[in-house]
Amino acid sequence: MTARPTAYITTPIYYVNDRPHIGHAYTTTLCDVWARAMRFAGRDVFFLTGTDEHGVKVEKSARERGIDPQALADENAAEFERVLEVFGLTNDDFIRTTQSRHVRQVQAFVKRLLEMDAVYLGEFEGWYDEGQEEYVTENRARETDYTSPISGRPLVKATEKNYYFRLSAFQERLEAFFEANPGFVRPEARRNEVLGRLRDGLQDVPITRTNFSWGIPFPDDEQHVIYVWIDALLNYATALGMAEDDGDAGGRHRYWPADLHVIGKEILWFHAVIWPAVLMALDLPLPTCVYAHSFWISEGQKMSKSLGNFIDLPTIERYMDTYGLDAWRWYMVVQGPLGATDADFQAAGFHETYTTDLVNTVGNCASRTTAMIGKYFDGVVPADAGTVFEGWDLPGAAATAFERWTAAMATFALDDACEAAIGLLRTVDAFINATEPFKVAKDESRRDELASILARCAEAVRIASMLLSPILPAKMAELRAALSIDLDVANGGLAEQAAWSDRLAGSTVTKVALFPRIEAPQDA
Ligand code: MSP
Repeated sequence: MTARPTAYITTPIYYVNDRPHIGHAYTTTLCDVWARAMRFAGRDVFFLTGTDEHGVKVEKSARERGIDPQALADENAAEFERVLEVFGLTNDDFIRTTQSRHVRQVQAFVKRLLEMDAVYLGEFEGWYDEGQEEYVTENRARETDYTSPISGRPLVKATEKNYYFRLSAFQERLEAFFEANPGFVRPEARRNEVLGRLRDGLQDVPITRTNFSWGIPFPDDEQHVIYVWIDALLNYATALGMAEDDGDAGGRHRYWPADLHVIGKEILWFHAVIWPAVLMALDLPLPTCVYAHSFWISEGQKMSKSLGNFIDLPTIERYMDTYGLDAWRWYMVVQGPLGATDADFQAAGFHETYTTDLVNTVGNCASRTTAMIGKYFDGVVPADAGTVFEGWDLPGAAATAFERWTAAMATFALDDACEAAIGLLRTVDAFINATEPFKVAKDESRRDELASILARCAEAVRIASMLLSPILPAKMAELRAALSIDLDVANGGLAEQAAWSDRLAGSTVTKVALFPRIEAPQDA
């Protein structure tokens, strides 16, 4: 038996100084949709998420609360893990950067970088703001007349020994890589941003710190702590045991490299430039795609702590209680900031999307079809009698929807994949309106015509339910149960299962009401 093709997808690992909110839930949900779609398409999937637990921000938050950084990390990592459960997300692992498996491999990787001379000990000299514990650039120092803009005290000239990553040495290789792999950064607009900045030239970057201790000690020089971003990026490799000495005892090396790193736009530079350069230095194959989505804002405003308008977990749970988990996923995917523009989370927009797409289209189409089969054929799907309806080609529409869905999934255009599937249901609705089976049913001599209409509707609904299942897993399971069919994902027969057939003929269907109408917009 040949091995199934793998698919490795990752979310960013989330900082534990923050509590989970819509931003985190969003990225993880997108990855979940893709992971389900790929499993469904027969790929051997590894879906990774986790938490980023080191660094000065975590140290500071813990200090403010008077607790140990590890205690803070434990508390919030548990909260992030709870999100996965509440949302029914299907990640295969959850990595925490304080786990020993991660720590020892990061040290091994950094050692390798030192040996390869990609990391060196250098000296940094700059203007230091003692009150703020940070360096300011020469330009900014000049602007404030070499005083701190915060305390007004003079800046001091300080030097610091740090280990540096030789990023500048990878300039040409990175440019060539971008050239040869136009799909490496998506969407296109983001790729252009990175390319522009890349062509401005690269400088070596410090990868250690000495002014705090909550991090992974630098190998053989424990005064230094590994910079949190190097520590964090390596999670994608340590989770697969890529620097373990055990000859792939975990059996995960086959997933390397990632097919998709899904991230928010604010951390693109690290993923699109620093990360590939580190992998080049380590001589590891590079990921296929970094997909940087944009941001959710809330009712027209940026979400911020000071405005207190974060769509947080309790708010999300209220939406899920009212509309259901699948409705939440649908809104995230079809109205979210997948492309290069931000998306506005609006209670009214949520309600409208729910009503238009799920109640009036998916739910209505499924219930009309199943109800008519119940009424006119005692709940048994008739065989297609082959009646020709001029201008209507449901099998053709289903094939086009499947092709569009497949192409959309391949480029992470999840909203387009949704559109392909729901578009098929809109066609079914229009077909019903045009052929008027409720009228045809009144005439006994037109039984063949009636059977042809309803057999085709049922088959198109079945195919649409397959394509919608990664996005609406619970509701589509309900629909499949109503159609008395299984979804055999394990065998990877998606193309075969989504192909037009007469497999439903003779099977029993029951009427379904998938998405209840909810009258008043919920102002959660
Ligand atoms: N720990 C780093 C990532 C290291 S990855 C090697 C980090 N963590 S974070 O907790 O700040 O999470 C950032 C991610 O959360 C973003 O990249 C994005 O995926 C998600 N979002 C945070 N706020 C968001 C919005 N308002 N909208 C959409 N997603 C955003 O950065």
